Amino acid sequence: MIVEEGKNSINLAVDFLQRGEIVAIPTETVYGLAADATNSSAIEKIYKAKNRPLYNPLIAHVADITMAQKYCNIDNLSMYLMKEFWPGALSLVLPLYRDSKINDKALAGLSTVALRCPQGIFNDIINAFKLPLVAPSANISGSISTTNAAAVAQNLKEKVSLIIDGGACPIGVESTIIKVHEKKLFILRPGGISYEILRLALDKFIDFDVEIVDIASDKIEAPGMLSSHYAPNAFVRLNATEIYEGEALLAFGQQDCKNVKKAVFSLNLSISSNLEEAAHNLFNFLHLLDKKNVKTIAVQPIPNKGLGVAINDRLTRAAFRK
Ligand code: TXA
Ligand code: MG
Repeated sequence: MIVEEGKNSINLAVDFLQRGEIVAIPTETVYGLAADATNSSAIEKIYKAKNRPLYNPLIAHVADITMAQKYCNIDNLSMYLMKEFWPGALSLVLPLYRDSKINDKALAGLSTVALRCPQGIFNDIINAFKLPLVAPSANISGSISTTNAAAVAQNLKEKVSLIIDGGACPIGVESTIIKVHEKKLFILRPGGISYEILRLALDKFIDFDVEIVDIASDKIEAPGMLSSHYAPNAFVRLNATEIYEGEALLAFGQQDCKNVKKAVFSLNLSISSNLEEAAHNLFNFLHLLDKKNVKTIAVQPIPNKGLGVAINDRLTRAAFRK
């Protein structure tokens, strides 16, 4: 069942969640597939619906810092970042209290949990539910994340009891996942909060100087950061400066491209080279081009700064073939 976002949809979602069902809910980053974080059989439904490997833990979503404090031991720097960025696109990996009620099924054997406080209706639903909700992106494991209700329905239709349609997700790429360790901040997954924005916030942190270590690109710390992910059926060819017969073009800005007329379909992530706009369009445009059953999607180069880092991370994984 698909219902439009509104007051009734909050009650409806809470009702489904209390009965141990899974619900697709929009967030400011991507759509999430939510379940009661304390209910093992509800969590199992998520893994089954997504065909997600059990070794890949879920992000637990909380309504605010107070709720986070019930489950995790929060160091000063993580607390500072929560105050700066929550509600928002930042997930923090933190040590769980031993008697925490977050169910082991969501944790893949780890003693830490990734916590995020989302914006909008997802936050309203957690508030009404009064418990954290675990939620991975609402897509079949390994395929493109979803940023609108139609894409969720196409991906997971028979497997989800309720989809809440809140329109297009404003940011369009998943949260940045970070972990604080010994005065360093490790970026485990680049996402909606860019390195540059994190750096600015850290420069205002007064307790000690913080170094940012970007390990997302070379070491698989988040088990879900498999080399191949976000993959459409089509091949993805990166840094395209020329189009070959039968390819679709995913353009960025107004860059030169040889034989552009050969493209069978063409979409531009942002004609004005705006990386926020490109992130917002990324998954939707990949879905749309993939639906045309083209063999290859050729993607123009995208600057590796700001949100471009998260965009290039997703595209590199989309292009990776085992
Ligand atoms: O924006 C987002 O983060 C979205 C929305 C729905 O909140 N969620 C999302 O979830 O992207 P998912 O499951 O698609 O990606 C979560 C990532 C996975 O790569 C997982 O391995 C990692 O978070 N993760 C979860 N718990 C972790 C932990 N304790 N330590 C390290 N990585 C963890
Ligand atoms: Mg995902």
